[in-house]
Amino acid sequence: MRHFLTLADFTKEEILEMIALARQIKAETKRKEFVPYLENQTLAMIFEKSSTRTRVSFEVGIYQLGGIGLFLGKNDIQLGRGEPMKDTARVVSRMCDMVMIRTFEQSKLEEFAAYSRVPVINGLTDQYHPVQLMADYLTMIEFGKEKDPIIAYVGDGNNMAHSWLMLAGKLGFTLRIATPKGYEPDAAVVAQAQEFAKTSGAKIELLNDPKEAVKEADVVTTDTWISMGQEEEKEKRIKDFAGFTVDSEMMRLAKEDAIFLHCLPAYRGYEVSEEVFEAHADEIFTEAENRLHAQKGIMVWLDRKRRS
Ligand code: CP
Ligand code: NVA
Repeated sequence: MRHFLTLADFTKEEILEMIALARQIKAETKRKEFVPYLENQTLAMIFEKSSTRTRVSFEVGIYQLGGIGLFLGKNDIQLGRGEPMKDTARVVSRMCDMVMIRTFEQSKLEEFAAYSRVPVINGLTDQYHPVQLMADYLTMIEFGKEKDPIIAYVGDGNNMAHSWLMLAGKLGFTLRIATPKGYEPDAAVVAQAQEFAKTSGAKIELLNDPKEAVKEADVVTTDTWISMGQEEEKEKRIKDFAGFTVDSEMMRLAKEDAIFLHCLPAYRGYEVSEEVFEAHADEIFTEAENRLHAQKGIMVWLDRKRRS
């Protein structure tokens, strides 16, 4: 049995298998063929943080695969009143077939997985957001950007930056991450990506100049400067990230046909200008829709692994 906690746990081939499944199921869905790959299965979805895309895509996804989703907000279950993660895992995994969790520390997710009888999926932690990256990669393929792309990530060295490091490290992409000083990605995550790069040929650069990062890029991406749980640092962060807004002037440095991705929610005027956001709305909302398709690929892949 496999869990989906970080892309670090998967080979390039496994990532490509899940993406191939996602593309196949997306094509079927577009033809209105709803194949019940997960008939009568229940997906528990535990949320300790807010969500629009993750909740809707997992709930619709499991339903379209023939199963049912169970939304468990932290304040609706005993977890919110202090019941341990490991007890929650032992209860929920005896009644459900798969579990998705959105939480704070990666270690809480790992603890849940260690006590779970069924596959566990990371729906975002402070450290990683791997399901988002599967949707982002699917979007890159659909926009013809999967062949040796230069990816520029501009902004905070957060869970999204870490997840890009894992994807680039595994698949062999060129990834430039530009952050203000003091907001670099976690050194251990960078080291792990560099380790993967030895096999995959990925080129990973950390910079403090966003313009240098974006130069000749095929894919430009960013994320909020204030992640969930960092609300109290808002004012300081807005000051520290001055000059890191992806605006039209910055986009002009990228390749002429570069795409712009954003995991959403977006805060216009901060990490991205209104003009860039609206000019690239097609890519951004295809990326959001691809959460549904990518996660179906992941769920079906995990189910097959459990049975094999
Ligand atoms: N991108 C993403 O995970 O969005 P939500 O927080 O709305 O789920
Ligand atoms: N970095 C953001 C991503 C939101 C989908 C956060 O963790 O809040």
